[in-house]
Amino acid sequence: MEPIIIVHGGAGDIPQSRVQGKLNGVKASVAAGQQILAQGGSALDAVEAAVVLMEKDEYFNAGYGSVLNLSGEVEMEASIMCGKNLDVGAVTLIKDFSHPISIAHKVLTNSPHSLLGGEGAKIFALGMGFSTVPPESLISENAKNALNDFLKHGEFGRTEIGIKDEGGVGTVGAVAVDCNCHVAVATSTGGMSGKAVGRIGDTPQIGSGTYADDNIGGVSTTGHGESILKYCLAHSIIKLMESGNDANTATKIAVDGMTNRLNNTAGAITLSKTGDVGINFSSNRMAWAYIKSNKIFYGIEKNEVHEEEYVSEKPSCK
Ligand code: GLY
Repeated sequence: MEPIIIVHGGAGDIPQSRVQGKLNGVKASVAAGQQILAQGGSALDAVEAAVVLMEKDEYFNAGYGSVLNLSGEVEMEASIMCGKNLDVGAVTLIKDFSHPISIAHKVLTNSPHSLLGGEGAKIFALGMGFSTVPPESLISENAKNALNDFLKHGEFGRTEIGIKDEGGVGTVGAVAVDCNCHVAVATSTGGMSGKAVGRIGDTPQIGSGTYADDNIGGVSTTGHGESILKYCLAHSIIKLMESGNDANTATKIAVDGMTNRLNNTAGAITLSKTGDVGINFSSNRMAWAYIKSNKIFYGIEKNEVHEEEYVSEKPSCK
């Protein structure tokens, strides 16, 4: 089949001042992943590359630019899943590495465990050859402003960003199907502004932030972590597809279902195993992009789809 990749750059009350930066970021991210797929690379490598790009970009709540906890620190989380054999890798409470998603990928490939946190994740990452960075080098001005605003006015849980005017960042994720029909999903986040120290959200929890199964498809979610994990949002969408719903219908039913039941917002991107696309969000905005049939599709507003020609290499399977 023709390989395909879709990415999201977070659901939330994204202010207008952050819209263009986010759109630029998701378009660059999806192109990085698509290039790997076009060269016959694996879905796992493609979703990691797409997420790495957004972890470098301060327009997103992952890696550099992650939101801050109540102590003013970055504590990041990420997960990755391979739909071929349901292998997973996840990390949480990461403070001083630039790319949590790459550490999660190593947990998948090089650890007997699925989820490593805090000091243990750091020891594992160092053993795998990752270098630490000063924790303060991951903190953006925007994230500081968002925490300050949260401390003045915030109500935890209303948004990933905690501030409406300045802080438009969001969890990131990618879903891909490669030319060998393998599905993979990656999701990475700084969590929510003003979270308690040690708080763990949905993103590193398989079935909540991430799920991939070659027999069905893949999902990456974003939004209010405590609600997403109660609802097992990613796996709910997978189950709805398994019972016959198309990717878009399944995504809408589950996102609406979570929001109606728990009164908080979320978003999700979905691919079926045959490359059908699902995109839905109950927040005000969610940045997303995908590349299919030499076109790049992208958007951030509800019911908005932009479409441009995209010249890509002819896919060649390895
Ligand atoms: N969805 C990101 C978080 O709540 O941690």
